[in-house]
Amino acid sequence: MTSVLSVASEVFPLVKTGGLADVAGALPLALGTIGVAVRTLMPAYPSVLADLGENAILTEIDDLFGGPARILGATVAGLDLLLLDAPHLFDRPGGPYIGLNGYDHPDNWARFAALSKAASLVGMGAIAGYRPDIVHAHDWQAALAPVYLERQPSRPRTVLTIHNLAFQGAFPHTVFPDLGLPADAWGVDGVEYYGSVGFLKGGLRAADAITTVSPNYAAEILTAAGGMGLDGLLRGRADRLTGIVNGIDIETWDPANDPHIAATFTRGDIFRRQINKRALEAEFALEEDDTLILAVVSRLTWQKGLDLLAEACDDIVASGCRLVIVGSGDRMLEGSFLGAAARHAGRMGVRIGYDEILSHRVQAGADALLVPSRFEPCGLTQLYALRYGCLPVVSRVGGLADTVIDANFAAQAAGVATGFIFAPVTREALLDGIARLARLYADPPLWRDLQLTAMSSDVSWTGSARRYADLYRSLVPERP
Ligand code: ADP
Ligand code: GLC
Repeated sequence: MTSVLSVASEVFPLVKTGGLADVAGALPLALGTIGVAVRTLMPAYPSVLADLGENAILTEIDDLFGGPARILGATVAGLDLLLLDAPHLFDRPGGPYIGLNGYDHPDNWARFAALSKAASLVGMGAIAGYRPDIVHAHDWQAALAPVYLERQPSRPRTVLTIHNLAFQGAFPHTVFPDLGLPADAWGVDGVEYYGSVGFLKGGLRAADAITTVSPNYAAEILTAAGGMGLDGLLRGRADRLTGIVNGIDIETWDPANDPHIAATFTRGDIFRRQINKRALEAEFALEEDDTLILAVVSRLTWQKGLDLLAEACDDIVASGCRLVIVGSGDRMLEGSFLGAAARHAGRMGVRIGYDEILSHRVQAGADALLVPSRFEPCGLTQLYALRYGCLPVVSRVGGLADTVIDANFAAQAAGVATGFIFAPVTREALLDGIARLARLYADPPLWRDLQLTAMSSDVSWTGSARRYADLYRSLVPERP
């Protein structure tokens, strides 16, 4: 049995700010069913400790970046967790990355270097009786793990997954001496990145294998346009790079068995979706009618292209559609959506904030989900949408293009269409995509076919977990 230590800064259902948590929470469970034993190392944030039941101290570290630390073992939601309890780094108010003042914790470099260092110690046997074959690090917060491990004798193999190349963990060069790396790790062949310390950069250079979360994004990041400064390094390591598309937890996201929605439904009784549409209208004080409800559930950031939607709200409402937006982030965008909702009371509803339960109700009740991202490594909301028969309207980038089949003439004729893809990422192309959607909505049998095809898309982890398992096995030398 292959044994994997997965390392991440957020893990659903314990701590989540975005899709990374969903993946770090669901992939280990899927791997568990196919003979890969995964333990998950994450920081013991205060909220995690507060809800923690039975646990055991598995090892202690006298000094981890300026204070004592220990690793607690516990099982939560089926996950075999290792919690890095280092109060000087993690016992504080705020989110995993951001303090109550809205700014990054000033010592994030130490907090996540510590997570990576702890991963390397566990990888080398710090917990009695445990020696993983693979250390699988997720994103920049865990990216130094392969760097700490690379010179250790008989070390585990390392995998680094890029969930988003926009977040690279770059810090001033002055932190380098405190990372506890050998002096020659400073340089282009180490963690140095244009005069700064680059956590992701260092990890990408040191890892035995690199993955990212869709095949299309794997190709995009090798180009100057998509590589965010790291394309040169990635091209040099292209033989080590694989794109494996994300799945979703089909039990948490199951319209047939979702405790959060007004009416559960399946492909067989999809007419019950209507009950959820009515509930959504009530929740957002929308007029009750049969016009389209287009929805967004997203971080409100430049990446997500939602400024294009903000500029298109008036046209969309004028065309007869209604809009529901659930999100938080950029203050300007929040204000702009709230302003549009005030102008279009009854036709547009906005909820600023993060609300996991509401996001289920939106997927179950809206007719379509808009994802006009400028770049999107994979994207999960369009996968939930497919499963809930809420047709995705997505830009042709990254994993969006890998997971949605555009309802063009040929795809409709072949009965495989699941949504709408538009390009380029402009307000006009987005409006064109919505216009195409509205034309099909006017033909109820056709619309129903699209919904049923969308709902039968395989968005589970089954195929992708197998790809990770194959990758792990390819890295581990045959045992006698
Ligand atoms: P990213 O990780 O870039 O934000 P993904 O689509 O991979 O994008 O994952 C986003 C996750 O966060 C999804 O599970 C989505 O439902 C959730 N999400 C984003 N914003 C909100 C919100 N305001 N309320 C509830 N869930 C949200
Ligand atoms: C990142 C990406 C998103 C991806 C998620 C999980 O947050 O922005 O596209 O789905 O990670 O891999």
